[in-house]
Amino acid sequence: MLDLLVKNATLSDGRTEMSIGVVGDRIVDLDQALDAPAITVIDAAGQLVSPPFVDAHFHMDATLSLGLPRINESGTLLEGIALWGELKPELTQQAVVDRALAYCDWAVAKGLLAIRSHVDICDERLLAVEALLEVKRRVKPYLDLQLVAFPQDGVLRWKDSKGRASAFDLLKRSLDLGVDVVGGIPHFERTMAEGAKSVELLCELAAHRGLRVDMHCDETDDPMSRHIETLAFETQRLGMQGRVNGSHLTSMHSMDNYYVSKLIPLMRESGVSAVANPLINITIQGRHDSYPKRRGMTRVPELLAAGVPVAFGHDCVMDPWYSLGSGDMLEVAHMGLHVAQMTGQKAMRECFKAVTETPASILGLDGYGIAKGCFADFVVLQARDPIEAIRTRATRLKVVRRGVVIAECSPNVSALHLTSRPASVNFLKP
Ligand code: FE2
Repeated sequence: MLDLLVKNATLSDGRTEMSIGVVGDRIVDLDQALDAPAITVIDAAGQLVSPPFVDAHFHMDATLSLGLPRINESGTLLEGIALWGELKPELTQQAVVDRALAYCDWAVAKGLLAIRSHVDICDERLLAVEALLEVKRRVKPYLDLQLVAFPQDGVLRWKDSKGRASAFDLLKRSLDLGVDVVGGIPHFERTMAEGAKSVELLCELAAHRGLRVDMHCDETDDPMSRHIETLAFETQRLGMQGRVNGSHLTSMHSMDNYYVSKLIPLMRESGVSAVANPLINITIQGRHDSYPKRRGMTRVPELLAAGVPVAFGHDCVMDPWYSLGSGDMLEVAHMGLHVAQMTGQKAMRECFKAVTETPASILGLDGYGIAKGCFADFVVLQARDPIEAIRTRATRLKVVRRGVVIAECSPNVSALHLTSRPASVNFLKP
């Protein structure tokens, strides 16, 4: 007897009329038109059943703080960092926990069940670290929260006001407390040389501790910001292939093509992945340009073509850097698709993977996917394929975690009151 049977599912790889059998928290059967007794049956009615959405780049310590203590008027990265610096001394652990838990509620409702969040460690109290470790424990039954020790003000640049601790000490202390991944921000260090030094220092720390690395890297329009080269080189030197990610990489948008033709193969050889953050990149980059204005997102199709895994991250929701967002990774994929002009059928499917499978592998999630033996985690979407899901930012009809429905939503249907026209529309292809 199955605990759960999902019938008539379409999978993101194109298989149709699939049945998913679940016992306990695992998928035990996956076949066409499986007919076995089950305690609960969900008829997907031909709609897409996808593994959960995964966000490979987020800032949960700042989320939902919009307006505290004021709004970012210029909308620039640097005013955002300054604003966060004003808010930090006023933060309380309880407020950070409450906002993060509220965001996780949104995430669950949107079928987003795994998030890699950076947490700012440039604070001698490590208040946000303590808060997000508490959140990680509390959401564990329904959401995988992976934390990155992120020196927002530069691991070499930042000094605490009383001179008691360096950012590097605080970063190590946060790892001791249970933060999972080593972060960095080389382009925010004082000089290019200091930036390179920070990459070396942090990669050596991660190698020594057997941890993954995820750095904010080259989040600038300066084509000479080339810390990704150092990051890839260090990854190779230290044998950390498959464990290192470069986030943003926006300078690559503006780099010389010849240089990029050498850089991308280095990234490929080093097994370094990339995360673009389309909503943030398109609003924050190109701010010093008049016209034409650069888009500023990294070279997603070219990286993918070379075999470099690329995910799309949300980065920010209602915080000092970005006033919008709702935890909807289909909105993120939608923007990424447009900014990268990935409009071919295969390319659009790649954009769906960039918010599901690819970030799952970057995070190193165990048991992810719709396959026998995987965790029974999935989302029933009001769409028939990944492209339609992105086009409509499909309603999450059911969100299942470990075999249990943890969120559901009515289908998106508008009633029409017109003569000689249908009584309703649902925006799906007829
Ligand atoms: Fe970020």
